[in-house]
Amino acid sequence: MRKITLETEMRVYDNREELPEDLQELLRHAEDAATRAYAKYSHFQVGAAILLNNGKIVTGSNQENAVYPCGLCAERVAAFSASAMYPEVPFNKIAITAINPDEPLKVPVSPCGSCRQVLFEYEQKFGHPIEVVLAGQEGQIYHLQNVATLLPYTFHEGFLPK
Ligand code: THU
Repeated sequence: MRKITLETEMRVYDNREELPEDLQELLRHAEDAATRAYAKYSHFQVGAAILLNNGKIVTGSNQENAVYPCGLCAERVAAFSASAMYPEVPFNKIAITAINPDEPLKVPVSPCGSCRQVLFEYEQKFGHPIEVVLAGQEGQIYHLQNVATLLPYTFHEGFLPK
């Protein structure tokens, strides 16, 4: 038996002003998108903004449903929209943030496993790293260089029969 350690590296910024200007801009789009969430049941409003390789920005927000599992996270709404609109254009960056109506979110929002898997698929499809920016309403901001580091030991198409 031997142990292996999987590492995740991310840059931590203390506030928005410290972020590079292009990431601040993308984060503003995500913040704006969060205000358009349909979060009738959780009241947790999430926004995502994807910068495509053609310079376009596609946003998404979480969309909930009375049948809870029918709802979809902001990240997947944005990713599926971007892929549906521009199927051949790689994703360069995604910014994700959220609004907690009870008290301002002080930690960066953490994308769920399904969203990480979906983003990983597009990273693989284009062979192009997707930078990830995670923010709360205040406090630190995390910046990762790709989705793969958010989802170590990932299931991918190589496992599937030929
Ligand atoms: N949610 C997202 O949209 N993205 C995340 O990264 C975390 C969770 C949504 C799903 C659901 O509408 C609500 O937040 C509460 O889980």
